[in-house]
Amino acid sequence: MNILLLGSGGREHALAWKLRQSPQCDRLYAAPGNPGIAEEAELVALEVTDHAAVIAFCREQAIGLVVIGPEAPLVDGLSDSLRAAGVPVFGPSKAAAQLEGSKGFTKDLCARAGIPTAGYVRTASLEEARAALARFAAPYVLKADGLAAGKGVVIAETLAEAEAALADMFGGAFGAAGAEVVIEEFMQGEEASFFALTDGTHIVPFGSAQDHKRVGDGDTGPNTGGMGAYSPAPVLTEALQAEVMARIIAPTVAAMADAGTPYQGVLYAGLMLTLEGPKLIEYNARFGDPECQVLMMRFAGDLVALMRACATGTLAPGVAMGWSDEVALTVVMAARGYPGTPEKGGAIDLGDAEAHGAKVFHAGTARDSGGALVASGGRVLNVTAMGSNVAQAQARAYAAVDAIAFPTGFCRRDIGWREVAREAEGERPLGG
Ligand code: AMP
Ligand code: GLY
Repeated sequence: MNILLLGSGGREHALAWKLRQSPQCDRLYAAPGNPGIAEEAELVALEVTDHAAVIAFCREQAIGLVVIGPEAPLVDGLSDSLRAAGVPVFGPSKAAAQLEGSKGFTKDLCARAGIPTAGYVRTASLEEARAALARFAAPYVLKADGLAAGKGVVIAETLAEAEAALADMFGGAFGAAGAEVVIEEFMQGEEASFFALTDGTHIVPFGSAQDHKRVGDGDTGPNTGGMGAYSPAPVLTEALQAEVMARIIAPTVAAMADAGTPYQGVLYAGLMLTLEGPKLIEYNARFGDPECQVLMMRFAGDLVALMRACATGTLAPGVAMGWSDEVALTVVMAARGYPGTPEKGGAIDLGDAEAHGAKVFHAGTARDSGGALVASGGRVLNVTAMGSNVAQAQARAYAAVDAIAFPTGFCRRDIGWREVAREAEGERPLGG
């Protein structure tokens, strides 16, 4: 089968690497791709916003599966256009991608289906939002309704801060995404991510992970897209995963089907493990980045078969998955300046980083005019390794990091710290 993969990050490099391992993968194309993806796939110049051009390419190359990595083309309805043209696609429709594209949509669905999540109100004007604050207590959780590149959430410690943030949001700080704002009750607990694949009706769990969103060691400094992750997240025990499937994922998939907008693809649930049990923080309509990298390291099954089953409504609930028993951990190497304006063009020498089984996924890399590898984005490399526990995977990932020469880059040195500490204590995770 010929496959087209869309996207250009570390997530898509990991997907390309795994798709390529399937015996069903004939030609793998990617757009726009990056130098890492170029080692797995043939890069093609395609504008993902030009649906007609993507469809024409799929026809010319007899594409049997399109895999959409990032959220923007999903929310833009590329899956709908491809499905209408008869091209199987892994990724939800525009209507189903509202689970990521509109926080208010998801909160209303949770309310209707009785899915555990924080209490909330949807507000459509500054006056309404300010009045609604009275129904909450500090810290105030304020969310721009639409896609805001992960920056649309403000946690305000005081009423004055909350009012200022609301004024920013309705004042256009997040563009159209802030035309509506959701105000939520603050939840306390540990965060974890859970993934499920679905064809709209059938669901298979697809692993767990935890990431580190803050830029600095000890979880300090500004938020980022994620500075590292590991999988599985032992804090999400078998029992908790079963509860998440039964109380959160299954009712969501059922509600989407009942509404006539079945969800097909990967459903990524951001969870808060509260004293009252797991609650949904938010959904994403795609794999996490860098969570996808650690999932792909551990996944030993046939990704092409699985994704095509999701795309064609033929996902068998008992499908053989195949997971490594080991833990995978990834360290993000970022360019100086990230998450602000990253320094571009910094030289990268990967050395023998992959010599001992580690895998270096490319995110923001490019080739300069002489063909040398350079930094071209904020998050640049995802250095990923496996181990029998988080401590061992961490040690191997940092050994690979240390083999890389990237003078204008930096990384956190403590990815996985929470779990490494628990392993050292011999402690059982929460709920275990
Ligand atoms: P989101 O983009 O909705 O995942 O929110 C970004 C981050 O804000 C989450 O990863 C949480 O750390 C935090 N957050 C979001 N909603 C809540 C909430 N209701 N209570 C506490 N923290 C939250
Ligand atoms: N790493 C968080 C995300 O992909 O949304």
